[in-house]
Amino acid sequence: MEDGDGVASARMALLDNGSLEMVKVVYCMVSDINLEGLDTVKTGSCRRFFGGRRLWRRRIVENEDIKKSQFPDGFLFGTATSAYQIEGAYLEDGKSLNNWDVSIIFKVDDADIADDHYHRYLEDIEIMHSLGVNAYRFSISWARVLPRGRFGEVNPNGVLFYNNIIDNLLLKGIVPFVTIHHHDFPQELEDRYGSWLSPLMQEDFVHLAKTCFKSFGDRVKYWTTINEPNLFSEMAYIMGKYPPARCSAPFGNCSVGNSDSEPLIAMHNMLLGHAKATKLYREQFQAKQGGFMGMVASAFMYEPLTDNELDREAANRALAFHVAWNLDPLVFGDYPPEMRHYHGSELPRFTPEEAKYIKGSIDFIGINHYSTLYAKDCIHSSCIEGGDRAIRGFAYLTGERDGVPIGEPTGIPRFFVVPRGMEEIVEYVKKRYCNMPMYVTENGYAPPKQEAVQVQDQLHDVKRIEFHKAYLASLARAIRNGANVRRYFAWTLMDNYEWVRGYSLKFGLHYIDRQTLKRIPKLSATWFQNFLTNSSFNNEQVVNTSSFTGKNVLISGLEDKKTEI
Ligand code: FCB
Repeated sequence: MEDGDGVASARMALLDNGSLEMVKVVYCMVSDINLEGLDTVKTGSCRRFFGGRRLWRRRIVENEDIKKSQFPDGFLFGTATSAYQIEGAYLEDGKSLNNWDVSIIFKVDDADIADDHYHRYLEDIEIMHSLGVNAYRFSISWARVLPRGRFGEVNPNGVLFYNNIIDNLLLKGIVPFVTIHHHDFPQELEDRYGSWLSPLMQEDFVHLAKTCFKSFGDRVKYWTTINEPNLFSEMAYIMGKYPPARCSAPFGNCSVGNSDSEPLIAMHNMLLGHAKATKLYREQFQAKQGGFMGMVASAFMYEPLTDNELDREAANRALAFHVAWNLDPLVFGDYPPEMRHYHGSELPRFTPEEAKYIKGSIDFIGINHYSTLYAKDCIHSSCIEGGDRAIRGFAYLTGERDGVPIGEPTGIPRFFVVPRGMEEIVEYVKKRYCNMPMYVTENGYAPPKQEAVQVQDQLHDVKRIEFHKAYLASLARAIRNGANVRRYFAWTLMDNYEWVRGYSLKFGLHYIDRQTLKRIPKLSATWFQNFLTNSSFNNEQVVNTSSFTGKNVLISGLEDKKTEI
């Protein structure tokens, strides 16, 4: 039986009792999707999709050039940032200290000044305008708007700052996409009750969301509540690398924490905080403001390490324990059955009342996609590095097969350049969530350590161009294949404070001189501008044979830039 829109098909499904059974899977009818408004879908008929062999059978052709015209009309291209990574002004105009400001663990740099966006936002908006983007994804600094959370007043200076950003974006014809919470929150909320480990944090988050809807909702139509709850839970509560730095062996060596259970609790509170904020928006604001709500999940792709059935199942489990952990509750009202089966009572439950309002609590899905990893089965064979734990779905994740990396390595150990992964993950999300509207809210490239690399060479970032071209081509294939993807945000506008890796890791289309904070466009900024404006140039020249696709890369119209590498 073939899969397809409006087609019912039979699939093997893992049931709560652990057995496999044939189930009927019904996909949305194409007519359920409003292609004009671009943003609504009825999820009523959507049933879970459980991966399966077919995902791995397809061989994907990667060598392909990419043009903006290959994307549907109305597709928005933008750049993405987050407050803590760029704003600086860490104690100005009433902002309080947040979890990152006070964290001393694993910090190589601080973000006290960061890119000084707080004082230079007009220049940054001008840069985006000249790039030609028509959308900008940024986040709100919780400690700037509500320095004491629910326990104090709204900071008018914080509200003014974001009002200025929103107004100036709109003046330039750039659509604001606001992330309400992206990894940073007032430290007081940690000190008072342990932040996301407590249900009290849900109320604080709703208070922040309400403040945002009230203050900005007349102009902001696209909201994502929380950025990557799955990655934040992993980094803060499994690995203990993000504040509050809690973990247990074998995942890390923290003084407190429990890597097997706390991430599940933190995620549960984030999902409920999201659902309550969405409920509030829909009841009190949506009719008047007419906006859309989404959530952003970190979305790695996982492929089986070997071609055997057990590793295929491990890859499906890895997807369920990483991506579906975050997204299933928002669409179906509960965690993936695979997680229920392997976690047992440790996995929190939604009350019937909660299940009702968490189900269908998104109008669109945001995915941040960077990389693909291999998954190896750890149920039937022994594994290291926590692969043999339920929290990892009994899957060992690795970027290498027989010593050969899955793609070219980058500046982050688990990030490899695997362009086909974009098509594969979009296909997975499309199938599992009934092809509801999907936005690629982050995708970008950071080269291996740049400290020793001359500025001129950092500016000549051919690999970043190759990366975006190859991933965009992969995305375009998914769209041609029916995926309902509407936006793409490049991470990121400019080099910035990359969390625990500080300023050494550079994802930016613009270079920042750390002494003067001057913004300097890299070659990739010029490429993106050309891509966005559909410019054609006379002086095309072959710059390199792409190491990602094995194809010659054409860089156009850059005669004033250095071209040798
Ligand atoms: C994502 C984060 C973003 C940035 C990129 C590289 O997980 O959302 O802030 O750090 O990774």
